[in-house]
Amino acid sequence: MAETLGLDNGLTNYGDRDFARYLRRSMAHSMGISSELLSRPVIGIAASPSDFNNCHRYMPQLVEAVSRGVLAAGGLPRMFPTVSLGEVFLNPTSMVYRNLMSMDVEEMVRAQPMDAVVLIGGCDKTVPAQLMGAASANRPAIQLVTGPMSTGRHKGERLGACTDCRRFWGKFRAGEIDSTEIQIVETRLATTAGTCAVMGTASTMACIAEALGMSLPGTAAIPAVDSQRLVAAEESGKAAVRLARSPILPSQVITEQSVENAFRVLMALGGSTNAIIHLTAVAGRLGIRISPQRLNDISDETPVLVDLKPVGEGYMEDFHAAGGMGAVLRELRPLLNLDCLTIDGRTLRERLNERAGWVDRKIIRPFTDPVSNVGGLISLHGSLAPEGAIFKRAAATPALFEKEGRAVVFEGLEDLSARVDSPDLDVTADDILVLKNAGPLAAGMPEAGYLPIPSKLAKAGVKDMVRISDARMSGTAYGTIVLHVSPEAAAGGPLEAVRNGDRIRLSVSKKTIDLLVDPAEVARRLEERKPLPKKRGGYQELYQRTVTQAPEGCDLDFLAQARS
Ligand code: FES
Repeated sequence: MAETLGLDNGLTNYGDRDFARYLRRSMAHSMGISSELLSRPVIGIAASPSDFNNCHRYMPQLVEAVSRGVLAAGGLPRMFPTVSLGEVFLNPTSMVYRNLMSMDVEEMVRAQPMDAVVLIGGCDKTVPAQLMGAASANRPAIQLVTGPMSTGRHKGERLGACTDCRRFWGKFRAGEIDSTEIQIVETRLATTAGTCAVMGTASTMACIAEALGMSLPGTAAIPAVDSQRLVAAEESGKAAVRLARSPILPSQVITEQSVENAFRVLMALGGSTNAIIHLTAVAGRLGIRISPQRLNDISDETPVLVDLKPVGEGYMEDFHAAGGMGAVLRELRPLLNLDCLTIDGRTLRERLNERAGWVDRKIIRPFTDPVSNVGGLISLHGSLAPEGAIFKRAAATPALFEKEGRAVVFEGLEDLSARVDSPDLDVTADDILVLKNAGPLAAGMPEAGYLPIPSKLAKAGVKDMVRISDARMSGTAYGTIVLHVSPEAAAGGPLEAVRNGDRIRLSVSKKTIDLLVDPAEVARRLEERKPLPKKRGGYQELYQRTVTQAPEGCDLDFLAQARS
């Protein structure tokens, strides 16, 4: 058992260590803490409450429950705030600030005196940011999530953010419901604390944290309002004290093998496309890289087992009641690396050797009778995306999987919103919509890849079309959508060269996406490209100078490496 340093961790530099220790204890006494408690192992609690983050509304209760667990196990809990990212409250997009939050987490975990840390996050970018920061700091850490929302009701139907948000917005745009009804629906989509109620990015990342071994078993999917969520918080606090005494580092848990496990889980969940970027970024902090080919192999070998929206029917509350991550991991067992260590000190094999609980097979299907025989996400390559693109086949329309069509191009986000609903737009249901300049460099990579069906087509009953962009898509969205085209248009990728009327071919069976234009003509068009206006000053400039493309996780290049 390691000796814990507690408050003596990382003394402030005054050139006199004893003075630094004496001064720190004196200031700690001013917080009204007894000498007995001040001598205990210190457990940091990285909290991210914010009035701009609805998904973290129960953060204070979670902090209290973690503290209770820490105290019960003989530690001293110390909460500290970090950046918080509420998905829909940030401009231009929360994605820009994920890396900023990760730097905050990394530096505060390293700079402050703690023997272990419990990271509490939930909303889309917060868990990736905390895992990235923890990986870089490489101090004993446990991830606790805020948990998913419970569903609301409308006219006898269950509603959950945000797949149903999009479904009802689509109905409104198509004129199927009026403005009075959409206003009522607005109040019924997100009715409790917690993260979006479907297998969107937040829930996918919660499951990935558990699959990596960074969260306690069985904690990913407990609803935010369930009392067991507080028990999970208390247990996380106790486990952090154990970690402080017998350290297991993130670098021992997040390994190439556990990252592969996490990618498999992502496929089996039919999880969010965003999780590919986030998991790549987390792994990248420890120098781990999974190639697009390996990703496709994992996808082809791993069936979709979980029948949740946006791919299927259920909500996260159903997933938890159905058996949650334990049931999914048991089904995947023959495909998993079972020797991976988890932060509770056991290997994945030891966890899965425990007696299995009841499983609702409507929600979590057996390996032999899956929702789909192949995984939810694939990487595409071709002349339109030389460095790759991502396609969520589980949420797409199979009739559009092999499609050649005429490009209808939008030069950027403003152009899209100005023209997509114009009655004059030259577009048919057979065309392919293309959005440029929405990648990480140009626009911070917003979730704009779910291009709206042009309203004149939506009103005519068109539900899906092939849509292509260098943007991301919400994990709660669905459709035949090619995302993360790399290099992005603003970085000189062939996407920039696409013009109205060009032919594009998507082949899901071949995993290709091609621009059917002579390469010499593409090169000529790219020479006309105008450079991006430079951002000046602060984090925005740092971001623009150093952000990487989607295949590298959109991390800042100087953060995406292991360091001592
Ligand atoms: Fe936070 Fe959806 S808005 S998870």
